[in-house]
Amino acid sequence: MTDLAGKHIVLGLTGGVACYKAAELCRGLLKAGATVQVVMTEAAEQFITPVTMQALSGRVVYGSQWDAREPNNMPHINLSREADAILIAPCSADFIARLAQGRADELLSLLCLARPTNAVPLLIAPAMNREMWAHPATQRNLAQVQLDGATVLGVGNGDQACGETGDGRMLEPNELLEDLIAFFQPKLLAGKTVVVSAGPTYEAIDPVRGITNLSSGKMGFAIARAAREAGALVTLVAGPVSLPTPRGVIRIDVKSAQNMLEACVKHAQTASIFIATAAVADWRPATAADQKIKKDGSGKTPKLSFVENPDILATLAQSPRGKKGLAGKAGGLFCVGFAAESHDLLANAQAKRLRKGVPMLVGNIGPATFGQDDNALLVLSEAGVQEFERAPKLKLARKLIATCAYAAGAKG
Ligand code: CTP
Repeated sequence: MTDLAGKHIVLGLTGGVACYKAAELCRGLLKAGATVQVVMTEAAEQFITPVTMQALSGRVVYGSQWDAREPNNMPHINLSREADAILIAPCSADFIARLAQGRADELLSLLCLARPTNAVPLLIAPAMNREMWAHPATQRNLAQVQLDGATVLGVGNGDQACGETGDGRMLEPNELLEDLIAFFQPKLLAGKTVVVSAGPTYEAIDPVRGITNLSSGKMGFAIARAAREAGALVTLVAGPVSLPTPRGVIRIDVKSAQNMLEACVKHAQTASIFIATAAVADWRPATAADQKIKKDGSGKTPKLSFVENPDILATLAQSPRGKKGLAGKAGGLFCVGFAAESHDLLANAQAKRLRKGVPMLVGNIGPATFGQDDNALLVLSEAGVQEFERAPKLKLARKLIATCAYAAGAKG
């Protein structure tokens, strides 16, 4: 993963038990390709040593505004000018108060104040006891810090080091990493609402058996993440898969094609883009037995008959808003289909785009992508055919979201 390649992050640590998570965060930032300069307050050094942070980041840690190692003796200027972002994790209640007031009596708050606000974003990951978090003074300070341009990454809910339970835990290192990566993505879908269907469906035969397929849901989940990173409000309607929900995405778990149709139709009402990546079962057993079907010892096999499932993509594409989306009219639903084919990808995908009546259709070879972390795509629209070379699914998803944002936007 090189999502942060070329980015230089100043990682600021302030006093709090969550400092132990900063060590893992530092490693995660480096693994994602960033360079990391750690700056610690005196209080942070009570919780984790600069030795650990230096060893992990591979750079000398700064802690004093009077650090004479800098030739000009101005670490606050030098460190803040080099950064692509300053991330304070953990950010204590006291440090938020200092930021709100513009205090500058120690290095970390000083360099936050000295940073060029239009070029060096400040992100904070608060960490504190739930009462401190809920206190009006903290909430007032947070509101001020946001007004002054900082991004607050939110807090987690759960068990706290003090033994209490509630809001105020620092987010986990992987969550902070995902948020920081998202922060740097262009906000091509700001203000848009997107619905994504993903994964297989499960069609019951009886209470313990059913028919499903090999779709892993990975492409759909990557697309939901990419759309969220691009600033959209995203609802992910997911068939039975065990993937983690991308940060900030609303997930609706469904089982059958019928359940998926209902959820997609409901949520697409307020959406401007629908992306159908789900591998929906084409047929379902005509009746699902109430009780487990038993062998009777005679060697006779049960006879299953099937009925066709509703076509979710076609239903939405052929709805009045779907037709508006196809025609490029304002207020329409821009529908994007996927085609999982085993052969003749281009011809099959072209025919499918016209048959489903969608402005954009993405073709891929099903057996070559199911369960894999990478994929290769053919993107078909009125504008022609674009080939996306084999790459990790998240990378392809970001490219697809950019193409889709442009096409949907260009169509009004
Ligand atoms: N799709 C859907 N509802 C269905 C079947 C498919 O929403 N009941 C959507 C898929 O999510 C995908 C597109 O339609 O975006 C094409 O799916 P695919 O399985 O490739 O095609 P089918 O319509 O099933 O056609 P065929 O089986 O003939 O290839």
